Amino acid sequence: MRSAMRTTWTFNSAGQIVFGQHAAAQIGEVAANLRAQRALLVTDGALVAAGLVKPLQSSLETKGIKVTIFEGGEPEPSIRVALACYKAALQFQPDVLVGLGGGSNMDLAKIVAVLLTHRGHPRDYIGEGKVPASILPVVAVPTTAGTGSEVSGASVLTDEERELKVGVLSNYLRPSVALVDPLLTVSCPSKVTADSGIDALTHAIEAFTAVDNPDFPLPAGEFSMYQGRQPLGECLAEKAIQLISHHLDEAVHNGRNLVAREAMHLGSLLAGLAFSNIGVALVHALEYPVGGAVHCSHGAGNGLLLPYVMEFNKPARLEALGRVGDLMGAAVVGQTDEAAADAAIKAVRDLRRRIGIPDRLRDIGVDEGQLTGFAEAAFGIKRMLRVNPRQATTQDLESILKAAY
Ligand SMILES: NC(=O)c1ccc[n+]([C@@H]2O[C@H](COP(=O)([O-])OP(=O)(O)OC[C@H]3O[C@@H](n4cnc5c(N)ncnc54)[C@H](O)[C@@H]3O)[C@@H](O)[C@H]2O)c1
Ligand SMILES: [Zn+2]
Repeated sequence: MRSAMRTTWTFNSAGQIVFGQHAAAQIGEVAANLRAQRALLVTDGALVAAGLVKPLQSSLETKGIKVTIFEGGEPEPSIRVALACYKAALQFQPDVLVGLGGGSNMDLAKIVAVLLTHRGHPRDYIGEGKVPASILPVVAVPTTAGTGSEVSGASVLTDEERELKVGVLSNYLRPSVALVDPLLTVSCPSKVTADSGIDALTHAIEAFTAVDNPDFPLPAGEFSMYQGRQPLGECLAEKAIQLISHHLDEAVHNGRNLVAREAMHLGSLLAGLAFSNIGVALVHALEYPVGGAVHCSHGAGNGLLLPYVMEFNKPARLEALGRVGDLMGAAVVGQTDEAAADAAIKAVRDLRRRIGIPDRLRDIGVDEGQLTGFAEAAFGIKRMLRVNPRQATTQDLESILKAAY
């Protein structure tokens, strides 16, 4: 049963979203509108090789904007790479940052914009609400579908010393403009399509099944960007689940299918809008230590863990999980909520198998002896734990990991 009372909620996004084929060609105009004169384009070698960088560079230069390219981005970017990019930025002194790539490069552009504006070290900003004021404008151009980083207020980095993924979260990190162009995802290799696509599905399902906003257990005086499930985010998550579950398989196996690519790019954008306001929960909390230790991709780790967490959440979220089953086209009319929720979990497992995501932690190099430490580390990520519809102890987290092992 939903609580009848609603607290107030807010909805934050990128300042502007431009969606559709050839949206990226607008970058020169968009940057000129931001009064940019010097753009640092943050990307990586794979995207240069895929031919995605040159057209953006030309569009910017056509508007008289000076461009420098940092192509040292890497998947799941480390603090070391963030510092290298910051060094390049200090030399060039840009007035706008363009993050071209998957979540990794967009997140890199965001943290460098923070450092250029407020100085210091990435570790100074880890956590929520540590960025004191607005940052240099970031234009986000996603090439995966995807993380939703183009609209989110997060920058996720790998802290190699602590072997942990860490997040900087602030509404100031939301990009000024998101140019969401499905054509940029056509060159995305099938493994990246699968991993980033199931990450987007995880965002949508975690948001859709989150604790309700009036019940969100935020201690007095604490700030959180996450607010629990609120109606606007819920609508977006619902549509995202439908789009992603119907198009991910095709996008992975037939990457040239533009209908599938466009549906996935819209789905991941909507999921990003939903989760960056409602929150992500146990799947993400557990993936942070797992991914930090075994260096699997964020998406593969999430996709692996997702059905196990759905199973754990079933007692608290039967109705919503049943609806997920409907949205995925897995539930049958007249079924009980329980049967529909089981159908949702099975549909996620089946999709995961079809797109080649492993279903056991042992398959991605996790050692059984690591599980207790992972559970303890995940338990520390309170901003995610409190979004979960069922409050979990460290023992619960360990049981989920054991089931997934
Ligand atoms: N900021 C957020 O809100 C948020 C949300 C979820 C995840 N993340 C983070 O995002 C990162 C994962 O991002 P991702 O899944 O988008 O993958 P990614 O950015 O790590 O990219 C993976 C690889 O695919 C390549 N690639 C990407 N697009 C391509 C294309 N169109 N053509 C050819 N190659 C392409 C990249 O060069 C890279 O080598 C993780 O660090 C994760 O923690 C951030
Ligand atoms: Zn994610």
